[in-house]
Amino acid sequence: MEFVVADLKTVDHIIAAIKEMFVRGAPLIGVTAAYGVYLAAVNFGSEKNADNDLINECNRIKSARPTAVNLSWAVDRVCTEVLKVENAAERIAAARFEAERIAEEEAENCRKIGEHGLSLVEEISRNKKGKTVNILTHCNAGWLACIEYGTATAPIYAAFEKGIDVHVWVDETRPLNQGARLTAWELGKHGVRHTVITDNAGGHLMQHGMVDMVIVGTDRTTYTGDVANKIGTYLKALAARDNNVPFYVALPSSTFDWKIRDGINEIPIEERDPDEIRYVQGLNQGETKTVLVPPAESPAANYAFDVTPARLVTGFITEKGICKASEQDIKRLFPDSDKPGK
Ligand code: MRU
Repeated sequence: MEFVVADLKTVDHIIAAIKEMFVRGAPLIGVTAAYGVYLAAVNFGSEKNADNDLINECNRIKSARPTAVNLSWAVDRVCTEVLKVENAAERIAAARFEAERIAEEEAENCRKIGEHGLSLVEEISRNKKGKTVNILTHCNAGWLACIEYGTATAPIYAAFEKGIDVHVWVDETRPLNQGARLTAWELGKHGVRHTVITDNAGGHLMQHGMVDMVIVGTDRTTYTGDVANKIGTYLKALAARDNNVPFYVALPSSTFDWKIRDGINEIPIEERDPDEIRYVQGLNQGETKTVLVPPAESPAANYAFDVTPARLVTGFITEKGICKASEQDIKRLFPDSDKPGK
């Protein structure tokens, strides 16, 4: 395991980093893309055709990955600010200012998600008379996917800081193992007790009373409450419903799609390279090795996300508070959501 900080210096670097998933997770994709628009503004200044060139670059950035709505939200937000001014230096400054603002807002949103989600963990802990609160999470919606505290992990970190006894079941999250590789690493660095499990173990644990709540992140959530998240999330929600385990989704408002009503039929689901399924990466005596798992001739299909319908979601933990997964309750928390830039 290696922690590397890399500089992204061009729009192409930004696009490649998002596509190849050197940066991933909806909020971080959004912030990275916002800085991509800044780099595009640096390139084009205010010369003839600058507007068209900038818009083309924005479209190129937006097409890097299809599912996380933060990508287009952030690009459009920065682009709108740039196009309001004409002078080259002002354009660059406007782009940088807006990208920095998005990064700061997302960090603050994650902190507030932690504050609001803490109340849920505290309640479970009280009901269990201080015994361990077991939280199951899928994929990585921690600070490696977001800015600072993470979304799904923010309430966990807040509870841990408060001295609540928490333990996290970490779904390994095939095929890229964001849970086993990233969430486990993050929680370990923070000192939070956790156990990595196979993606299929959650239902069994829930049947035996070993999961008190599920908290996951999301890449895009409709204004009606349908949740796109890493493949396998839907099956966790089904198992949670069957076992009366509360299923929460933590998200900043930038992950709501205010235009899409029907998540199952309207959210684009990314299909990635089947080789991500066929080959597995891991450490062998300190060195990263890649090995082939299925027979070489077997085809594979790599659907990266699924949609959990609103009816299976207990609630959303957002920077504005907690709400039910319904159009009406989401609107109560975000009354200005139909205004551009919100
Ligand atoms: O394909 P990824 O790694 O970009 O997937 C994103 C995720 O990590 C999740 O689906 C996550 O739970 C929501 S984004 C914070």
